[in-house]
Amino acid sequence: MTATDTPAPTRDIPSYLDPNNIGPYEIFLEQVERVTPYLGKLAFWVDTLKRPKRILVVDVPIHLDDGTVAHFEGYRVQHNTSRGPAKGGVRYHQDVTLSEVMALSAWMTIKNAAVNLPYGGGKGGIRLDPRKYSQGELERVTRRYTTEIGLIIGPEKDIPAPDVNTGPQTMAWMMDTYSMNVGRTATGVVTGKPVSLGGSLGRADATGRGVFVTGSEAMKKMGMSLDGARIAIQGFGNVGEAAARNFHSHGAKIVAIQDVTGTIYSEAGIDPAAALAHLRQTGKITGLEGSEEIGKDDFWGVDCDVLIPAALEKQITLANADKIKAKLVVEGANGPTIPAADDLLASKGITVVPDVLANAGGVTVSYFEWVQDFSSFFWTEDEINKRLDRIMSEAFLSLWDVKEKHNVTLRTAVYIVACTRVLEARALRGLYP
Ligand SMILES: NC(=O)c1ccc[n+]([C@@H]2O[C@H](COP(=O)([O-])OP(=O)(O)OC[C@H]3O[C@@H](n4cnc5c(N)ncnc54)[C@H](O)[C@@H]3O)[C@@H](O)[C@H]2O)c1
Repeated sequence: MTATDTPAPTRDIPSYLDPNNIGPYEIFLEQVERVTPYLGKLAFWVDTLKRPKRILVVDVPIHLDDGTVAHFEGYRVQHNTSRGPAKGGVRYHQDVTLSEVMALSAWMTIKNAAVNLPYGGGKGGIRLDPRKYSQGELERVTRRYTTEIGLIIGPEKDIPAPDVNTGPQTMAWMMDTYSMNVGRTATGVVTGKPVSLGGSLGRADATGRGVFVTGSEAMKKMGMSLDGARIAIQGFGNVGEAAARNFHSHGAKIVAIQDVTGTIYSEAGIDPAAALAHLRQTGKITGLEGSEEIGKDDFWGVDCDVLIPAALEKQITLANADKIKAKLVVEGANGPTIPAADDLLASKGITVVPDVLANAGGVTVSYFEWVQDFSSFFWTEDEINKRLDRIMSEAFLSLWDVKEKHNVTLRTAVYIVACTRVLEARALRGLYP
């Protein structure tokens, strides 16, 4: 049976989501529905995946610098913990919603199972635009949020990490706050910390490096050469910049970069180091010497071999999927392609390395960091990169085999393997009490 033979299920939407506007979690629900026909007897447990195990919504009040008090919405969602503690980042963004955090936590469940890390999935977020607040205000937000979610996080329960607009400093504040509350230094409560505080070498570049490893393995399978390959990247932050640097240093040509400030194109190729220096100096990607500015929507139609969305979710839609000329899309961002656009890409013969595999490098090195913190024994960057490359390429190759065996997309193959692992754990553990 194929996924398309299955009648569309009627969705049982929890009351805390709007059935007329489910938001990003709808993408995840659709992905689970697509994989259900491949789960055999484990499909009995599939509703486990459709409902997060635990959701905590918190009020985060702080004193602003001007003496007034502001309140922010904070979330921590533990989607599934069947295979181990919840694990996933914390996002600061003005558009954060419960549905988004639910989706991101669910994708962490899939991602951790796909690369076989001993974790479930979690995610957190605060609804605020960090550009509008001082460092002091952000520190107070982070500390209050950490205290509020302190009820459910911990090195053996749920381990947050950075995501959009959070980074090593945020993790240092979270680690310190949690440690003060429990009365001991608990480095293992978060990952993505500064190296001097029990962070891991190689973490900063890990996600972009994993995008490169899985992307280049896909290129090999597809008979594409890295040398001179034309790459277009949306997002030039932690993930996009590191992915650009890795592709560039292996001979590929970065022909277009888009970020929140604009889009640039260069037929001769963009040097990511020069682009980063320019961005740091001017605050914009546009105006880089040797590049021309193009329109926001023109980015999708750029003549390229590999397209890397590495910004936010819901970027590849029915409005632009048809324009895409790449043979390969490697999803650095979480949830960048809506399911209908995914189908369109597949019908055009475009291969997609899905987010839950392509961007798993970050959580893989987070796992290394957590292990190093527990043993208080730290590895060299070379050891970390070698282990990361091995895990990512072995995961890619075994999942590619599943894709070939079932004649499905790589995304469906990843979901088959990941959902099977999670539901096998669920079935073996049984229901408590
Ligand atoms: N950082 C990690 O380790 C990690 C791991 C796995 C997945 N991800 C995912 O990767 C994506 C990017 O994360 P990041 O850590 O690089 O974030 P970041 O904040 O460092 O960078 C985000 C980039 O996206 C750009 N951007 C934002 N809105 C945009 C828009 N509307 N159009 C075009 N560009 C836009 C920003 O300008 C910036 O260059 C997110 O989906 C995140 O969940 C990150």
